[in-house]
Amino acid sequence: MIEIEGITKRYDTTTVVDDVSMVIEPRTIAVIVGTSGSGKTTLLRMINRLVEPTAGIIKLDGADNRSVPGYELRRSIGYAIQGHGLFPHRTVAQNIATVPVLLGWDKDRINARVDELMTLYQLDPQAYGPRYPHELSGGQQQRVGVARALAAEPNVLLMDEPFGALDPIIRTKAQEDLLAIQKRFGTTIILVTHDMEEAVHMGDKIAVMDAGKLVQYARPAEPAISSRPWSAPAKGRSGCCRSDGCVTRWRTAPPRAKPSAATPASATHWPSYCGRAGRRYR
Ligand SMILES: Nc1ncnc2c1ncn2[C@@H]1O[C@H](COP(=O)(O)OP(=O)(O)OP(=O)(O)O)[C@@H](O)[C@H]1O
Ligand SMILES: [Mg+2]
Repeated sequence: MIEIEGITKRYDTTTVVDDVSMVIEPRTIAVIVGTSGSGKTTLLRMINRLVEPTAGIIKLDGADNRSVPGYELRRSIGYAIQGHGLFPHRTVAQNIATVPVLLGWDKDRINARVDELMTLYQLDPQAYGPRYPHELSGGQQQRVGVARALAAEPNVLLMDEPFGALDPIIRTKAQEDLLAIQKRFGTTIILVTHDMEEAVHMGDKIAVMDAGKLVQYARPAEPAISSRPWSAPAKGRSGCCRSDGCVTRWRTAPPRAKPSAATPASATHWPSYCGRAGRRYR
């Protein structure tokens, strides 16, 4: 469990994260959305202490995240950096192996893990393992960034727009892979995205940041999220489907009725496709 209590970050007189409190339950995905500059990355980096807060506490499974040195903390927390942030002078394989090497895994285990992750992310280990980041496309670099974050099988994974540069097909595949990994290992994930469809698809809960403040924190199907203007769909897109706690990613026609407390989504008859369930509801 991650408990964020009254966390604040100020640079000089500017408050960029303002008294944010939220709890991320174990084995769940919390997605942070919000406009550029609203403090998402800063909040994420205070969890692994790449940024030190001005005030407040962050606890990981009950322990203050300042109870161990920052470098040790960061070995136990996966971090996929906005804009991938690969080490340019290290090969793809070396990049992915970064944390396992720091943790002192033996060579065979590291090689097996690197091959496994490269295969998962559709990068042939023979062909791409020895390459350097600049010899890869943007999308490939991004996948290496995610593979590197996952390498040591962390319990907690921080992901800052990890799929931003991926084309839609690979992006969908990367999302499904991450959901499968999260289920299999019970990873607790905090994921930042600008994509509301990705947020409702991936998130158990969605946090909305605005000017440093946490303005909403709720499940995707809750009205606090599903009825907000910023999530208002373009005509004929998005909204709640009828499976429990789920939200559609695509809609083929505008809703006939908006869900509300009086008319829950299950009572409306929207033609909709549920990405999570992979089926169409009528
Ligand atoms: N080291 C710093 N010194 C001063 N101001 C900073 C520093 N780092 C970030 N900021 C400011 O803090 C604010 C929040 O930045 P942050 O990177 O957290 O935003 P973000 O929500 O992740 O934005 P984006 O969606 O563009 O990635 C911004 O106004 C930014 O300019
Ligand atoms: Mg950011």
